[in-house]
Amino acid sequence: MEQYAKISCTSRYVPENKVSNQLLSTMMDTSDEWISSRTGIQARNIVTDENTSDLCTKVAEKLLTKSAKKASELDFIIVATMTPDYGTPSVACLVQGNISATKAFAFDISAACSGFVYALSMAEKLIRTGKKLGMVIGGETLSKVIDWDDRTTAVLFGDGAAGVLLEASNEQHFFNEKLQADGQRAKSLTSGYVQNQSPFYKETSESLGYLQMNGRDIYDFSLKDVTKNLSEIVEEDVDYLLLHQANKRIIEKISKKINVPREKFLTNMEHNGNTSAASIPLLLDESVENGVLELGSNQKIVLTGYGGGLTWGSILLTL
Ligand code: ACO
Repeated sequence: MEQYAKISCTSRYVPENKVSNQLLSTMMDTSDEWISSRTGIQARNIVTDENTSDLCTKVAEKLLTKSAKKASELDFIIVATMTPDYGTPSVACLVQGNISATKAFAFDISAACSGFVYALSMAEKLIRTGKKLGMVIGGETLSKVIDWDDRTTAVLFGDGAAGVLLEASNEQHFFNEKLQADGQRAKSLTSGYVQNQSPFYKETSESLGYLQMNGRDIYDFSLKDVTKNLSEIVEEDVDYLLLHQANKRIIEKISKKINVPREKFLTNMEHNGNTSAASIPLLLDESVENGVLELGSNQKIVLTGYGGGLTWGSILLTL
């Protein structure tokens, strides 16, 4: 019999340290008014002693507790992140070790703010081709790649992690998807450049390890390319849209452009900021917790990520 994938559990974890716009305005030349009116962001959580694998491990443990599944039942763990602890081991392997998911294979996906959508898409194929249970987590500690002297980026981002359990089902839940990338626009958003310090290496690079973003390019890209992508996926009877939480103005404009009421677009960037790969699963879990979304309800939703790469993509699914 044909096997499909369904989201059976959601969870999230954000670091305790909450940083308000007011606090940032004591640290750099910015204001609550500027940040709120341009982005909709009012606060974000920033780690004080945790790394990405710590946040993701907390999410994995919560998923197991909530679902009453055993780590040994997991077939795979995928983590989407652009801020891994190391180049290797992957964050997914660190999580696998921490929770003793001995049967699971584990790997990371690097697709910036589209990471969770990319990872969920890959995971769905793994389940459809025979795996029974997997974990898909988006987790970031963006605070470690932010240039805290650059007010144009420092005010935008936050740390956090969230994820889902994906398991085999007799019924179809994933109905359509479109993942895209454009590496020719790669330089619009870069982060984590590692300078080669070998004695043999002749070149020095002007690239920096810090996150650097041409905000205007990304803004225009989201209104043009992300809108087009979304309009090819969205269906008339869709209940809610969960877009990457970068900027409230972008969401308001996309809502008008594709003619879908603003109330159908869920948001939480107000208290999380832009958490890149974590932003969509954070919104998903918060919306399940506050009762707007219900697993098993058959609500039809669209998940849309967009960001560095450039990458973007949407998935249409039912809960
Ligand atoms: N506080 C106060 N003033 C500021 C700040 C700040 N934090 N940052 C910039 N400014 C100033 C600028 O210096 C500029 O001043 P000037 O006119 O005197 O030169 C003015 O505000 C306007 O700056 P802009 O960059 O033009 O502001 P804009 O309206 O474009 O908003 C923003 C910037 C919010 C970044 C917007 O471009 C945006 O949302 N872009 C999209 C970001 C995004 O969606 N990223 C998602 C992908 S992220 C990922 O993949 C990890």
